[in-house]
Amino acid sequence: MSDKVKVTIDGITVEVEPGTSILNAARQIGGDIVPPAMCYYSKLEGSGGKCRTCIVKVSKGSEKDPRPMPKLVASCRTTVMDGMEVQNITSPEVLEARSGVVEILLINHPLDCPVCDQAGECDLQNLTYEHGLQKTRYEFERRTFDRIDIGDKIQLHMNRCILCYRCVFLADQITEQRVHGVLNRGDHSEISTYIQQAVDNDFSGNVIDVCPVGALTDKTFRFRNRVWFTKPIDAHRDCPTCSGKVTLWYKGENVLRVTARKDVYGEVEAFICNTCRFEKKQTSDWVLEQPTHISDASVIASNHYETMQPLPVIQVNLKLQQANKIELEKTSKF
Ligand code: SF4
Ligand code: FES
Repeated sequence: MSDKVKVTIDGITVEVEPGTSILNAARQIGGDIVPPAMCYYSKLEGSGGKCRTCIVKVSKGSEKDPRPMPKLVASCRTTVMDGMEVQNITSPEVLEARSGVVEILLINHPLDCPVCDQAGECDLQNLTYEHGLQKTRYEFERRTFDRIDIGDKIQLHMNRCILCYRCVFLADQITEQRVHGVLNRGDHSEISTYIQQAVDNDFSGNVIDVCPVGALTDKTFRFRNRVWFTKPIDAHRDCPTCSGKVTLWYKGENVLRVTARKDVYGEVEAFICNTCRFEKKQTSDWVLEQPTHISDASVIASNHYETMQPLPVIQVNLKLQQANKIELEKTSKF
């Protein structure tokens, strides 16, 4: 007998390991029925339960106890039960509540997408596009903070922070002592600048990649270009500190920034070190692979042709790499 449990989400049934969250069960199905997640991050232990964007309706609790759950639940924090039935996009109640969540997330968020470096790859922007209202009903002044430099490569712009805690969990994960957290409560909550103490860590730059909005940005890339004008290319190098697998963001022949590679849910595949991220901005530092796959729904996909001939500099590099490989294969035969 299978130990797996059955859950049905928006009419699609899947069998998953006991202990799986509804969100991860939905991710095993994939597609439109997967709830959005602004705070949960599968690579960060303890994350989730903060933003409420992943709410769903449990219309049948389980085979043993079929009563529905009385309120909408956070799918990233609710474990599936055998025979559970869940509604996400098939429930008007969920969609209405989610649009309320987006409204709350936007209460203090500035509408500065035209100048924000995260525009084009911002989870909040995408969420608002899909679920947001056209107008704000909020008439009060938004919270404002001074920008804070976290070392010379990262900047914290608290005005845009949605308090998802991802950077807190990342800082906890990469340092041995807790050096970072959220200070104060309620309307006064803010990311503590003790994050500065985590900056010496080789992996501190990953806070930029896990931040779902433009609150933590790469100072070496800030205001240098709109992300949809750049061409992402997958590349790797032999790095002693991390996997060395990255995405290079080209403008012409220049590498404007280096990020970790992200999966379909916008989560990094593997964290990368600061040397790869900030210090290796020459094509010659990397072995180029292929144009990064970008979903058609993303604005970055505009003018991004994955089957087209790569840029001249990349073609030359690929040819050289190919020639070296053939040469190596020849010599290894003797
Ligand atoms: S700075 Fe970014 S990652 Fe950190 S809590 Fe705010 S939104 Fe989340
Ligand atoms: S993703 Fe579930 S509460 Fe934020």
